[in-house]
Amino acid sequence: MAKILIATDKPFAAIAVKGIREVAESAGMELALLEKYTEKAQLLDAVKDADAIIIRSDIIDKEVLDAAKQVKIVVRAGAGYDNVDLDAATANGVVVMNTPGQNSNAVAELVFGMLVYGARGFFNGASGWELKGKKLGILAYGNVGRNVARIAKGFDMDLYAYDAYTPVAAIEKDDVKSVASAKELFETCQIVSLHIPATAETKGSINFELMNKMPKNAIVINTARKEVMDEAGLTKMLEERPDFKYISDIKSAIDVELAAKYAGRYFSTPKKMGAQTAEANINAGIAAARQIVDFIQNGNEKFRVN
Ligand code: 3PG
Repeated sequence: MAKILIATDKPFAAIAVKGIREVAESAGMELALLEKYTEKAQLLDAVKDADAIIIRSDIIDKEVLDAAKQVKIVVRAGAGYDNVDLDAATANGVVVMNTPGQNSNAVAELVFGMLVYGARGFFNGASGWELKGKKLGILAYGNVGRNVARIAKGFDMDLYAYDAYTPVAAIEKDDVKSVASAKELFETCQIVSLHIPATAETKGSINFELMNKMPKNAIVINTARKEVMDEAGLTKMLEERPDFKYISDIKSAIDVELAAKYAGRYFSTPKKMGAQTAEANINAGIAAARQIVDFIQNGNEKFRVN
């Protein structure tokens, strides 16, 4: 009997685990659960006899893949798969997939929670400003970016996007203005929401030079990855632009220092919250389980990323 392991440091909602179990068991597969593990050794032990693994931001490196002797497929229940060593997986003959789009609405909704928090001065009682009519720049127009645009229309915001890989027509059909570069997006928009993955090309790309082009009372919202920020540039921006706020769902490496020094202008969630809703857990978790069953039973590799 094939064994699917859910290995999640940050657990799914119980209802999502129940749904994953139903998918696994109705396909004649067994489900094992490793949640809230504190040591890598626990993960190394749990993967030993798994045929398939469902993860979230859990780190699947060469050591884990080498310990997972039977594993044929790893599915990242979510969008970003920068936490999986794809080369090591390919070398071990392991298929890696993600579940694109399944948690995008949850992440996009959080963007607006953070944005209102920022525009209203972190709820400090002082007079803030409204989102209506403000220019919002969406950096990367993928699944999350599109959901951000959809919700922003309800706030009556003026929408702009830059995406090197999405055709201009696909952006403009949503009544979003497509700009020619990230530089133009930052120059134009008082608010920029980051939705780029962490890749060799994007790591450290959000730097002082770019952010300093932003109009007055600028806010950068990061629900993407901390690695895309140039942390020295972020520090310089907070230091030199007292009108600038940075609100993030992913702690910066120098989080404690920034939170203390720039209180009221720097905020990060204690734990990544973007995809942490029952709906997103159900959507991404069940999609992951179905992809595993379809791969094991029919060889379907539709969402393969390696
Ligand atoms: C993703 O890439 O899907 C999001 O960053 C969510 O990550 P999480 O599953 O660790 O919350």
